[in-house]
Formats: sequence, structure tokens, C-alpha cells
Amino acid sequence: MFITFEGIDLSGKSTQIKLLKNYLEQNKKKVISVREPGGTGISEQIRDILLDKDHFKMEYLTEFLLFSSSRHQLTKEIILPHLRKKYFVLSDRYFDSSTAYQGYGGMIDLKIIKSINKIAAGGLIPDLTFLINISIDECIRRKKLMKKTEDRIEQKKISYYNKVIKGYLQIAANDKRRFVVIDGTKSVEDIHAEIVTTVKS
Ligand code: ADP
Ligand code: TYD
Repeated sequence: MFITFEGIDLSGKSTQIKLLKNYLEQNKKKVISVREPGGTGISEQIRDILLDKDHFKMEYLTEFLLFSSSRHQLTKEIILPHLRKKYFVLSDRYFDSSTAYQGYGGMIDLKIIKSINKIAAGGLIPDLTFLINISIDECIRRKKLMKKTEDRIEQKKISYYNKVIKGYLQIAANDKRRFVVIDGTKSVEDIHAEIVTTVKS
């Protein structure tokens, strides 16, 4: 089963992936977790190029194609082989991130995103996607708490992030069978319980 986690930066994706991975392992399931961009040697190198602050000249299309290249490599090298071996594959972001950030964020035409996403994923679609929804104010609050330095992608403006948040909600509304939208301001434990209930069913 292929389960993906989406949401803006600091929405709580990696926290929940860790908890779900532990839960599944305790229940004797085979499980791996991966992150995007990254997850393979090649994809991690692409990640470094994407997030490097010195790369301010990067064209939007270059950026999108790099995310897509990283995704293609991860899909072929790790995700598909594990799905064939009946693993639960938990991914911190997948192609919905490109639709939300590069598409609804306003850089690339949504039709182009849709067709390249399909090529990069080799037609693979997550079985289940959790969208952990937080506001930009909550994101800023968490960023301050963590005293986090910003990478190139995170340096974009608030208006951009608001478009991404709205975009995510639109993507989820368009595909209600695959998406479960979670209020990311609930406690870590409550969110985990909600995720476990959904995965069980
Ligand atoms: P992401 O992987 O989406 O960037 P993280 O899981 O790394 O997010 O969480 C970002 C920050 O928010 C961390 O400091 C984490 O402890 C905190 N956090 C995660 N979930 C919650 C929550 N439900 N409520 C409050 N803070 C949270
Ligand atoms: P990362 O540090 O992994 O952020 P997070 O912990 O929030 O997942 O950085 C990934 C950044 O790349 C994040 O700001 C979202 C962005 N991104 C895109 O813009 N498009 C994409 O297709 C993907 C996968 C990520």
C-alpha cells in the first residue's frame, strides 16, 4: 500500500510518518518511509541542487523538472520494488506537492504539471493521501519555535504559501476518494489516532 503525506512545510508530516511507521512495524507489517525530494543517492543530490540558496537563477521549469526527475528515480529504484514485495510505502510528499507548489503556486500551467507528474510517477498513484492542513500563521509560529534557517524554496512570500494551501485543498476536493484532510493544529496524538483509524479501514 502506497500512502503519501502532503501539506506545507512544518505541517507535521514527518512526525506523523514516524508514528505510523512505528505503529505498522509493531503490527508486524513490512514498511519503509521515503521523502521527496530525495530518498535515493541520485535523488538526494538533486535535492541539494533544488534547495541550495545560491541557485537563485533557477528557472521554474528547471525546478519542476528536477523535482520530477528526483521522483522518477525514487519511484523506480525504491517505491515500486517495495510495493511489489507488499511493503507499506510511506512517502513524505509525492506528485501532489508539485501540483500544489509549482502548479497552484502559479509557476507552471496545471495541464503541463499533470502530464509530467504522470510520466515521472510512471502512472503510479498513491492509494491514500493525508493532507495535513495548517495556516501560514501556524507555519510561521512553528518556524520561530524551531529557529529554522530557510532554504531556497522556503524563502518565497506569504502570498505564495497561501496559494499553495488553497491549492492543496482544491486538489483534495477534486479527489475525495484518495484524500483525507486533517486539521494539523490538533495534537500529535489525535492526528496519529485519526491516521491509524483511516489506515485500518
Ligand atoms: P514537516 O515534516 O511537515 O515539515 P514536522 O513533522 O517536522 O513537519 O513538524 C514541524 C514542527 O512542528 C516540529 O517542531 C514538530 O515538533 C511540530 N509539530 C508537529 N506536529 C505538531 C502538532 N500536531 N501540533 C504542534 N506542533 C507540531
Ligand atoms: P523539505 O525540507 O523536505 O520540506 P518539508 O520538511 O516541509 O517537506 O523541503 C522540500 C521543499 O520543496 C518544500 O518547501 C516543498 C518543496 N517542494 C516543491 O516545491 N515541489 C515538489 O514537488 C516537492 C516534492 C517539494
